[in-house]
Amino acid sequence: MVLAGKRILLIISGGIAAYKSLDLIRRLRERGASVRPVMTAGAQQFITPLAVGALAADHVFTDLFSRQDEQDVGHIRLARDCDLVLIAPATADLLAKMANGLADDLASTILLATDRPVLAAPAMNPKMWAHAATKRNVEMLRGDGIAFVGPMKGEMAESGETGTGRMAEPFEIVAAVEMRLHDGAKPLAGKKAIITSGPTHEPIDPVRYIANRSSGRQGHAIASALAALGADVTLVSGPVTIPDPAGMHVIHVERADDMRDAVLAALPADIAVMVAAVADWKVASASDQKIKKHPGESLPTLALTENPDILKTVGHHTQRPKLVIGFAAETQDVESNARAKLERKGADIIVANDVSPATGIMGGTRNRVKIIRHDGVEQWPDLDKDDVAVRLAALIAEQFKQG
Ligand code: C5P
Repeated sequence: MVLAGKRILLIISGGIAAYKSLDLIRRLRERGASVRPVMTAGAQQFITPLAVGALAADHVFTDLFSRQDEQDVGHIRLARDCDLVLIAPATADLLAKMANGLADDLASTILLATDRPVLAAPAMNPKMWAHAATKRNVEMLRGDGIAFVGPMKGEMAESGETGTGRMAEPFEIVAAVEMRLHDGAKPLAGKKAIITSGPTHEPIDPVRYIANRSSGRQGHAIASALAALGADVTLVSGPVTIPDPAGMHVIHVERADDMRDAVLAALPADIAVMVAAVADWKVASASDQKIKKHPGESLPTLALTENPDILKTVGHHTQRPKLVIGFAAETQDVESNARAKLERKGADIIVANDVSPATGIMGGTRNRVKIIRHDGVEQWPDLDKDDVAVRLAALIAEQFKQG
């Protein structure tokens, strides 16, 4: 059993998605894990401790100030005597408390006291998930090392609204738990991976540059997911505003030329995932001085020249990594363009996405991709970029398992 002997502290907070936590408990136990439940007061408005306790076959902890519970176990031990703290559902309120270090009930106190990995499955109304305050809190929590699964896009149970906010399904949460806990979850140990991420900035003069809307979210998430599977990761990042992921070597570059140099210097490697939105063109001769405006005179013209194609260079290199993956950001004919790219660039896989402005993918947090290989195509559902990364890392690990 995949989770045999693993101890999961499951914090259930107050949302309608709590009903799915009952099934989640069953699925975790089916896989051999023990589940120790903690419920907030809100959670008990949706499901009963009786049902949770029966399914978990354990005492349900609800009260920070319960003399009996404190005597028997104590909140500090609760927080530490487990392999993973799982929060499902994680409400906007609980995330806000965590982000700010509040500890005014048992669940939030455990979350402040724990030194174990924490995985949160948020569930809330789409407007609450999209709110600037929640976004800020989630960004902060990610920075603190909290992992997330979901929320997913879909119809909300109570209001019938559609949008992002639905809790991940129990099987998806179980997969995320396995990913974090699997003893053998280092299938990429000893493998070296080079990832490019973010945009490039191509100087026009010392103060101006050509750039694009890439945020680096997808590339950084892939680098993290590969590092989580044990890969030795070098992340070559263009200028982004998101923090460096932990546990890897990060090289910061500005221009495509610098990105290519950094990638080639990092060879040999086993895996290359070129996610960066490298500018196709650079200014043929960038000015050393700021270009002045001269009203009434002719406007300056920018002569462009092609940038090096880093993916193509790596795909045809004498030290070509065993697995070379590229991305294809297209606004039309996504699949046929991606197929052509597979051949031209010497890649094994192209991850194709439609970046038409209406999709909100470029610069956004979600992605809907097609996995294009020489022998087939697979459409993935609309996912958070972190979940695309986890799936892609699992797919990469699978390739190495097959030898
Ligand atoms: O040709 P196109 O830019 O659409 O190809 C996208 C893929 O190629 C991405 O994986 C991107 O990282 C990579 N690429 C590159 N160097 C370039 C242009 C694209 O590595 N100059």
